[in-house]
Amino acid sequence: MKKAVLHLDKYFKVGEVDKRIFGSFIEHGGRAVYGGIYQPGSPFADENGFRKDTAELVRNLRVPVIRYPGGNFVSGYRWEDGVGPKASRPVRADLAWSSLEDNSVGTDEFAEWAKSVGSEVMMAVNLGTRGPEDAKNLLEYCNFPSGTYYSDLRISNGYREPHHIKLWCLGNEMDGPWQMGHKTAAEYGRTVAETGRLMKMLDPSVECVACGSSSYGMPTFGSWEETVLDEAYDQIDYLSLHQYFGNREGDTAEFLASNNVIDRFINSVVSICDSVQSKRHSKKRINISFDEWNVWYHSNEADGKLKKWTKAPHLLEDVYNFEDALLVGSILITLLRHCDRVKVACLAQLVNVIAPIMTSDTGAWKQTIYYPFYYTSRYGRGKVLETVADGPVYESKRCGKVPFLDSAAVWDEKKDAVTLFAVNKDLREDMELTCDLRQLEGYRIAEHVVLTNDDGKAVDTESDPDRVAPRKNGVSKLENGTLTAVLGKHSWNMIRLTK
Ligand code: AHR
Repeated sequence: MKKAVLHLDKYFKVGEVDKRIFGSFIEHGGRAVYGGIYQPGSPFADENGFRKDTAELVRNLRVPVIRYPGGNFVSGYRWEDGVGPKASRPVRADLAWSSLEDNSVGTDEFAEWAKSVGSEVMMAVNLGTRGPEDAKNLLEYCNFPSGTYYSDLRISNGYREPHHIKLWCLGNEMDGPWQMGHKTAAEYGRTVAETGRLMKMLDPSVECVACGSSSYGMPTFGSWEETVLDEAYDQIDYLSLHQYFGNREGDTAEFLASNNVIDRFINSVVSICDSVQSKRHSKKRINISFDEWNVWYHSNEADGKLKKWTKAPHLLEDVYNFEDALLVGSILITLLRHCDRVKVACLAQLVNVIAPIMTSDTGAWKQTIYYPFYYTSRYGRGKVLETVADGPVYESKRCGKVPFLDSAAVWDEKKDAVTLFAVNKDLREDMELTCDLRQLEGYRIAEHVVLTNDDGKAVDTESDPDRVAPRKNGVSKLENGTLTAVLGKHSWNMIRLTK
């Protein structure tokens, strides 16, 4: 059995976890909205047409913030189409996903739904085909109390109370040539500065996220961030990062090393933010919004064959397997370890479209990736402790030497709980993990939850929903202040210590 030692000290803290790192994302695309969260006429629908079964699964994930309405979709979106009497809302051709959008769900319905599942909206504005004026109008519609054209329009549409949306994405992936209204960094930087300025003049309490690179591999990565920050440093609060992964070569060890790309990506963007801060002699720090991340590749081929211009096509419906859940668990650990600078992160997406939750006309179920997200979101809140792991490594083509063990320790002082998240990426051998916990007196092991499966390709489906499911059967003990745990080969683990 391989061995690893984890060193931690309760006085060395990375930082406090911002709960918004457990955010997610609902885009108008595929069956995320229509058929996913909203399906009037379904036996699962409430009086407003929203699915109660989906809402329950979302609620259980404790998602504090949900990005909306896109994604690529937002870059051609006219938000006015989605408010007011439903009978007069237009059907539009959505160029992002070559689909039809009937606008039967829009800003007001989504804001109400988000509230009902315990989430806040992270609203994205269209800086592709539109600009600062429309973004400012949408903000006025959402947040202004009353007495102006757009706030009174909201009230006349039946929403007296403002939606109080605090977090705003200024466009989506504007560095990408696939994006409607794609811009150069300088063009986007200027647009974002003016949009942020107008929005903060109207509502100084809002926080603005500017688009960083659509992935670490973008040819403009680095220079894009620098230029956008040079232009808009004073108007924005966060810079966004997006990254998706896939086991396209069928090399699982390599695939599982992918969270190290996220690690590098975050470190690089933090360096750029801090270098621009230094250049400007600014006191203000720009933090990170990792507002799209996930595994995305299973559906690529099927999507290429889809019929265009239909409503709510089966788009981006990745069926996730067990190894995907391991990587999702590792990415969450990486985000925790960067909690000093990553303040927002969104698992992309939430329902049906590259999502932990799937629906059909007959029910809703959890995919494999639901589980690491569920546990990390519930128990990964508090202070992340600085940890150093001594353990075996392996060679990855993309990332060099990477550890078999990914781990993070979160201390929730208020609840008197220490939670250790750990992934053993070794596909052949178990690992014995030891950790000296003498500083944390009085704790005992409350549970050791394990997610594993003999078959990395095993999936959860509507007819077989529990093939990959967590078990509370981990082997661990705490004796004389030392924690010893067996992390099974290819397993995700959560060891929870309470008093
Ligand atoms: O989440 C799916 C798509 O991925 C989003 O619309 C876009 O922002 C990204 O390219």
